[in-house]
Amino acid sequence: MTTSPYVLGIDVGTSGIRALLVNQETGDVEGTSTRTYPSCNPFDGWSEQNPDDWWKACCEAIGQIIREASLSQNDIGCVGISGQMHGLVTLDKHDRAIRPAILWNDQRTQSQCDQIHEIVGLDRMVQLTGKPVMTGFTAPKILWIRSHEVDCYRKIQHVLLPKDFLVLRLTGVHSTDPSDASGTSLLDLRSRDWSDEILDALELSRSWLPSVTESQHIVSSITKEAAELTGLKAGIPVVAGAGDQAAGGIACGIHDQTAISINLGTSGVVFAGCETFPEDQDRRVHAYCHGIPDSWHVMGVMLSAGGSLRWYRDTFENGRIFEDIIQNANSIAPGSEGLRFLPYLNGERTPHASPDARGSFTGISSRHHRGHFTRAVLEGILFGLKDNLDLIQPYARHATHVRITGGGAQSRIWREMASDIFNMPVATVNVSEGSAFGAALLAMVGSDSFSDVISAIDAHVRTESVIDPTSKSTEYKELHDNWKRLFGILEPTYLSG
Ligand code: XUL
Repeated sequence: MTTSPYVLGIDVGTSGIRALLVNQETGDVEGTSTRTYPSCNPFDGWSEQNPDDWWKACCEAIGQIIREASLSQNDIGCVGISGQMHGLVTLDKHDRAIRPAILWNDQRTQSQCDQIHEIVGLDRMVQLTGKPVMTGFTAPKILWIRSHEVDCYRKIQHVLLPKDFLVLRLTGVHSTDPSDASGTSLLDLRSRDWSDEILDALELSRSWLPSVTESQHIVSSITKEAAELTGLKAGIPVVAGAGDQAAGGIACGIHDQTAISINLGTSGVVFAGCETFPEDQDRRVHAYCHGIPDSWHVMGVMLSAGGSLRWYRDTFENGRIFEDIIQNANSIAPGSEGLRFLPYLNGERTPHASPDARGSFTGISSRHHRGHFTRAVLEGILFGLKDNLDLIQPYARHATHVRITGGGAQSRIWREMASDIFNMPVATVNVSEGSAFGAALLAMVGSDSFSDVISAIDAHVRTESVIDPTSKSTEYKELHDNWKRLFGILEPTYLSG
């Protein structure tokens, strides 16, 4: 058992980095720090960030936590990192970033995805990697650089995912973990190692890829240089960490099939754990390795969930606080009197894998006022999540409830609506920090406070308020069935326009 009372959990997100100081014994978060960094969208559908901005933000965030908590050098037992998945970081022989990282929400690679499906075979890709190749994933981005930026491509010596770039800067070691590597389209999910079959078919070099280490295992320790920049003690162990979704699943206590989690953040993620490899997947459900050894998860991702509500607020509600806007919609009857909203503002991933999908309001009448529009947005987001829930449920047949996290989980009114639309009890959990907390739980295993991830979850994660569905569920079932038809009707207009 470690003698250090704390671990650090760090999440390298899309809008910023979040660092947590977590007490290993109580699970309490005793210090937090956030730093933001910009994204760059040089062309429509492109999304990039500078990896050096992540590192600067990481050093500052860790430094702030250490200063504010007045920690002594031995107080931190281990560091765990989670991060935005799928991002492509390319490094030269000196481990310098060759170009900005291409992020998970970048949509430029449809023709490279098609190319991979043609070369390896769509069915074979699904068999090996658990899902079709999607535009945001890592492998098609490497092929894109090969076709469009030949000079950059020639310099590549290493390819890393965002959180692994920070692990490299902290420890000097190129590593990743199976959960994050599952989002590259290069990992064989059964063996939890790189697929030589795919690498050979795509003529990509295995030597570029980091070693794959299970999430809770120690990769190496803080170097002297990183110690100087962060304020951490040299020699503190760093675990491999996990992709933000697997880490979020851990923070929510999802390790078996008794519960499904829904993260209602900018994106909307429906997530279930699987103790055996999920065979025969519907192509719309995406399988990944979990951040727990010998365990996998299935996931459906909506690209604009809370993001749609934020867009609506910023565009039509003049920056009002979310709870006020939601309150305004509460007096409107289910179905928003025929007003319907499709939340596909930036394309969609599941269940409609379409970078061209777009949002819409339909059925507007002169009876509708602002409250109806808000309610239609809230319902449209939940209907999109219900589509994903319906896909995930066959993999978690014994799930008794949904655990909801993310910014959207803070609203009781929205949670009540969710419970009716999902027709399942909806619970919150005691942990509000998500992925960074999951990374901290992994670090607690790395520091020997727990023998495995499930024991860390059992000690520190529990459900809190539970909302049961009401009789409105029946009405919502019909409304959802009608809403679902809209995508098919509107899809041709996205493609033509
Ligand atoms: C998961 C995904 C996003 C990113 C950014 O597949 O694309 O959740 O990890 O958070």
